[in-house]
Amino acid sequence: MKSLINKAKTTHDLTRDEILSILKDDSINEYLFSVADKVRKEYIGDEVYLRALIEFSNICRCNCVYCGIRRDNENVKRFRLTKDEILSLANFAIQSGYKTIVLQSGEDSYFTAEMLAEIIKEIKKNDIAVTLSIGERSFEEYKLLKEAGADRFLLRIETTNPIVYKKMHPNMTLENRKRCLFDLKKLGYETGTGSLIGLPEQSVEDLADDILFYKELDADMIGIGPLIVHVDTPLKGQVDGDFILALKVMAITRLLLPNINIPATTAMETLVENGRLKALQSGANVVMPNVGLENAKKQYEIYPGKVSVDYETLKDDLKKIGRTISLKRGFRNDNKSFLE
Ligand code: 5AD
Repeated sequence: MKSLINKAKTTHDLTRDEILSILKDDSINEYLFSVADKVRKEYIGDEVYLRALIEFSNICRCNCVYCGIRRDNENVKRFRLTKDEILSLANFAIQSGYKTIVLQSGEDSYFTAEMLAEIIKEIKKNDIAVTLSIGERSFEEYKLLKEAGADRFLLRIETTNPIVYKKMHPNMTLENRKRCLFDLKKLGYETGTGSLIGLPEQSVEDLADDILFYKELDADMIGIGPLIVHVDTPLKGQVDGDFILALKVMAITRLLLPNINIPATTAMETLVENGRLKALQSGANVVMPNVGLENAKKQYEIYPGKVSVDYETLKDDLKKIGRTISLKRGFRNDNKSFLE
C-alpha cells in the first residue's frame, strides 16, 4: 500500500481500484497524510492562502436535506445584507490583510447577476481576488459575473452518486450541477468543487468516483468536509461524517491534483479539535475565515457549532506548525505547475 502511495506521489495518477484500496485500508493513514503534506510542500510551499468569507444572505430556494439553511427550516431567522453592508465587510477584510474575498449566500434570486456585478466591480477596485459561492445560475449569468471581475467560483458537487444526489437535493439534478461546473471552467473561472463526506447511503466507491470527477473537471480548488448533522433537518438523529475519512479523501486529492488549492474546511475544525491544523498538515493549504458580523454568523447555521477564527489567532496557530500567511492572492497559477 505504501508503494501505491509513493507511486501517486510521483505520477499523480491512481485507478479507481487503487483509490478504493487506499480508502479502505486504515493502517496507512498517517503515511498517506505525511506524503500528501510533502506534495503540498513541494508544489505550494509553506505559505497558507487566506480567503475572507462574507455570508451575505441565508435565504435559499433549495431544500438540501442536510443543510441548516434549507428552505423548509422555519427556525432560521433569515437575513440579507445590503450592498453597503457587503462592501463595508469587504473593506474590513482588505484592511485586515486578506487578498481574496469570498461572497457566499444561499440560492437567493433577489440578488440578480446585475446586482452582484455592481458589488464585484466595486470590490475589484482594490487589488484583490473575488470568489463567488452563490449556487447554480445560467451560463449567461456566470458570464456577466465573470465580466464584472469575479475570479473564482465555488460549487461543490456534494456527491457524484446520482441516487444519493437525488435523495439529498430535492428538485435538483446532478446533470445541472455538472453543467454549471463545466460552464464555469469554460468561462475561465478558477473553479472549486468538493464533496460532503458521510451522506446517508454514500459508499467509499462513491468517494473514489468523486475524486476521479475532480480530476476530470481539472478542478482548481477542492473543499472536502464531513457532514455535521443539523437537528432542524430531516437528517436529525443520523450520525455525523467521519473526520479521518474526510481527511483521507482530501489527502488523496492532493496526490492526484498536486498544485491545486485545498482548504482546511471549517467543518473539519468544527467536528474535531485542531482539525484545521491536522488538515493543513495532510495536504491542505488554504483557510477561509468568516469575516461577517456575529449576528449574521449565528443565522448562517449550515451545521451546528460552526467555529470561526480571526486573522491574528490564525497567524499564531500557523506559526506553531511552521507555516506563514501568504501575501499573494493565491491563484492556482501562483503554485508550481506539474507540467513544468
Ligand atoms: N454539514 C457539513 N457541511 C454542510 N454543508 C451544507 N450542510 C452541511 C452540513 N450539515 C456544506 C455543503 C455546501 C457548503 C457551503 O456547506 O457541502 O456546499
